[in-house]
Amino acid sequence: MSPLILFFLSSLCITLLPTTSSSATVLSAYDVLGSYGFPVGLLPQGITGYEIDQSGKFTAYLKGSCNVHIAGRHLKYKSTITGNISNDKLTDLVGVSVKVLLFWIGIDKVTVTGNDLYFKVGIYNADYSTDTFSLSPTCG
Ligand SMILES: *[C@@H]1O[C@H](CO)[C@@H](O)[C@H](O)[C@H]1NC(C)=O
Repeated sequence: MSPLILFFLSSLCITLLPTTSSSATVLSAYDVLGSYGFPVGLLPQGITGYEIDQSGKFTAYLKGSCNVHIAGRHLKYKSTITGNISNDKLTDLVGVSVKVLLFWIGIDKVTVTGNDLYFKVGIYNADYSTDTFSLSPTCG
């Protein structure tokens, strides 16, 4: 092989490698949700960042508070959402509430069993198909 072709090939490798390796390592908050078995639609669009530690304790950030309409319900997200996530189980949730009659009640806990998503809302329980939450709702 001529030195010129060799030079061309090696520079091609150098320019291609970094882009493919870096994009695979950055997980979005939605990817993290999915990796624990939850549908991405549990979080609205517009998450600006998140932190998670090894025990699963997390904080997710939105630009501002956010109201969404999903599954015939009104949900409200605060600009900071905290909780503890593990496989199929989201506990100690703070910052997400649902309107029940005239009142906003905090969602404490969400669990997944097969295709069912269970919400614990104060003394109430509600369950939905995970398909209902397969897309992130938009704030507005
Ligand atoms: C988070 O949940 C896991 C699994 O249920 C539990 O072992 C852990 O202690 C919890 N962490 C906190 C900070 O509550």
